[in-house]
Amino acid sequence: MKKWIVLTLALALALSLFAGCGKGADADETDYASMSIEELKPLLKTVTDGKLTVATSPDFAPYEFYSIDENENPTLVGFDIALAQYIADYLGLELEIIPMDFDGTLSELSAKKVDLVLSGYSPDPTREDKMDFSDIYYVGGQSFVTVQDKADSFSTLADANKAEYQIGAQLGSIQADLAKENTPDADIVELSKVTDIIAELLSGKLDGAFIETVVAEAYAKNYPELCVKFDVPYEQEGSVVGVSKGNGALLAAVNLAIAAAKEDGSMDEFVAEANTLAEGNTYEGLLDNQG
Ligand code: ARG
Repeated sequence: MKKWIVLTLALALALSLFAGCGKGADADETDYASMSIEELKPLLKTVTDGKLTVATSPDFAPYEFYSIDENENPTLVGFDIALAQYIADYLGLELEIIPMDFDGTLSELSAKKVDLVLSGYSPDPTREDKMDFSDIYYVGGQSFVTVQDKADSFSTLADANKAEYQIGAQLGSIQADLAKENTPDADIVELSKVTDIIAELLSGKLDGAFIETVVAEAYAKNYPELCVKFDVPYEQEGSVVGVSKGNGALLAAVNLAIAAAKEDGSMDEFVAEANTLAEGNTYEGLLDNQG
C-alpha cells in the first residue's frame, strides 16, 4: 500500500514537472503588440530596473562611431546612438550604452547581460535563436570595397575570388558570410573592428573587403583612397534592433518607439546628423569602454 502511494506521488510529480516544461505553461501569450506604450511601460523588464542597457560596436560610421568634439574629446555618436536615446526616452528608461566589439554584442545579448543591441544588425535568420528582431529602422546595402590603386584588378566581383587575395570582413558579421559565399577561394581575414579593416585596406594588407555600403561610403569620404567598387546582393536588407529573447513587452515597446521615430521625422534627422558628423573629425583608433 505504502509503495503504491509513493509510486503514485512520484508519477504525479513527474507529470507536473513534464507539464512545467511544456509550451503552455511557459509561453507568454500576452498580445503585447496590440498594447499602447502606457500599457507596456509597467510591464517592461530590463537587466537593471529603470535602465535600458544597450550594447554597440562603435566602428561603424554613420551608425555608431566616435566623433571628436570641440574639446578634442571622442564622443559616441551615430544614428543608432540617437535612436537608442529616443527609444529609452519613449520607454521612460535611463539609457546606458556599453561599447564593445561586434562579435561581443551578440554574446552579451544572448547571455542577457544587456537589453538591446543597436549595432547596425541585419535580421539574419541564423541569429533568430539568440535575439528577437525589431521592425526595420533603416535600409542600406552591401558592398565590395578596395583601394583606388587596386580597383582595376577587379572588373567583376568574381575577379576577387582568387587565392592570392586577402579579403577582409568583420568577425561575427553577415559580411563574413558574404565573403565566404562570394570569394571562397581567397584568403578571408576576419577582423574584430571595421575600422581595422579600413586601416588594413589603406596600408595594403588587405586587397578588398565586404562592408555595409553606407559605412564604406562614410569612410571613403574621409579616406578618398578607398573605392566602393561593387554592390553585393544580400537578402536580409535592412537594420533591426536586437532585443533580448523572449522579452515580449520590450520588443513591442521598441517597435512602437521605432514607428514613432519614423513617423515624426526623428529617424531622418538622426541619419542626416550622423552623416554630417561622420564627414567631420572622427576617431578610428582603439578606445576603452570609457571612450
Ligand atoms: N549588418 C551586419 C551584420 O548584422 C554588420 C553589422 C556590424 N555592426 C557594427 N557596428 N560593426 O552582421
